[in-house]
Amino acid sequence: MTEKAVLTFGDQQIELPIVEGSDGNRAIDISQLLAKTGMTSYDPALGNTAFCKSAITYIDGDKGILRYRGIPIEQFTQHPNFIEVAWLLIFGELPNEEEHIDFRARLTANELLHEDIKDQFQFIPADSPPMAILSATLNNLACIHKEFLEVNSPEGLVGAAARLISKARTIAAFAYRRSMGLPFIYPDPSLRYCANFLHMMFSLPYKQYVVTDEIQDALNLLFILHADHEQNCSTSTVRVVGSSHANLFASCAAGVSALWGPLHGGANVDVVEMLERIYKGGISPEQCIRDAKDKTNPFRLSGFGHRVYRNFDPRAKILKAACDRVLASMNRHDPLLDIARKLEELALNDPYFVERKLYPNVDFYSGIILRAIGIPTNMFTVCFAIGRLPGWIAQWKEQHDDPSSRIVRPRQIYTGEGERNYVPMDQR
Ligand code: CMC
Repeated sequence: MTEKAVLTFGDQQIELPIVEGSDGNRAIDISQLLAKTGMTSYDPALGNTAFCKSAITYIDGDKGILRYRGIPIEQFTQHPNFIEVAWLLIFGELPNEEEHIDFRARLTANELLHEDIKDQFQFIPADSPPMAILSATLNNLACIHKEFLEVNSPEGLVGAAARLISKARTIAAFAYRRSMGLPFIYPDPSLRYCANFLHMMFSLPYKQYVVTDEIQDALNLLFILHADHEQNCSTSTVRVVGSSHANLFASCAAGVSALWGPLHGGANVDVVEMLERIYKGGISPEQCIRDAKDKTNPFRLSGFGHRVYRNFDPRAKILKAACDRVLASMNRHDPLLDIARKLEELALNDPYFVERKLYPNVDFYSGIILRAIGIPTNMFTVCFAIGRLPGWIAQWKEQHDDPSSRIVRPRQIYTGEGERNYVPMDQR
């Protein structure tokens, strides 16, 4: 017999189907609740609502497990290859050799920005936030590449995905060059994805930036660890926008905007600013912990806590180890890493954080690696966005390919005025 949940209220009793996944939480299907009872459901911030079925990423927040298409995230750390992971997320399987070569060739073919798009950068104020530039320019791509406004075939999707993933990196680097008043450096087709990004960021017209294998691996790893995280704020945004059949560019541009906030991707900036403040003596680590616990103080310990993880974020564990590796390979010591470790130790031994199951999240250590690579703080969230693009594309595609998907349209509980009359201006 198929299991059902029974909901009783007043003298009514209705049966609700149970939805099974292949792993993890089961759900009670309430999609017919309104039609059958006239009642809607209330779940602020959707903390208890599965708003889609997805076969892309699996998280077990209690055990600290993260898998992409079934593969544990730890298995991507040995020979990190962001492009391979991007393909895996979007198309469901690791690419075979032919697919890998083809996708890399497409990324290379799409790495330049149309000169009209490039020229727009000179009209943007030099101190503009790079996240604003990234979001606006991704949207602008639709003005130039109109063929990608409708993506209705697998071939069209591969082309659009390659275009977005490739150009996001060029847009990011050009935004940085603009902010520094430096000449744009065109992409070098002989370089791999991450090396090419760093080349566009840091080469000079008279001097090629040389990237070591360790730095390339570190950036690949960082992008991989950010590549998808199921229905987080920005990914849900991409799905909500895409559900209206808005194009892939517009949907991903909306994802960038959602990611920007300090409770989401913007936290990686806040973490490093917090660590720098401590380093400069503005506040002690102990005071920082006290402030984070003080309910009259809006301050939160940046890079700590997560809606889903009630255990170590596996990404933070990997990044913490990677910090040591990267700094050692550069023969460098970063005092901010010592401060981060100290904060983590204080928090993990403090009943406030222990009781609430607050652990370091992906943003806690990522900034230390980005700093070591030479990425300035205002580009941290942009790097998160470059990493997250394959996830957004994969989730957009999954929704787009699902014939049962509908426009996302939540309900509300109205708490405003009852019916009343319009008052003309001279009587107010
Ligand atoms: N510092 C101090 N207290 C915290 C923190 C923190 N970082 N995070 C959560 N809490 C407290 C919160 O005040 C609440 O306490 P109480 O039960 O006494 O009211 C309790 O822990 C539960 O928190 P919540 O606000 O219900 O948790 P949430 O699931 O709504 O929010 C979060 C999750 C990530 C927004 C939050 O933990 C936070 O603001 N963290 C700091 C910002 C951050 O690091 N964001 C990056 C998240 S991971 C990567 C990403 O998504 O981009």
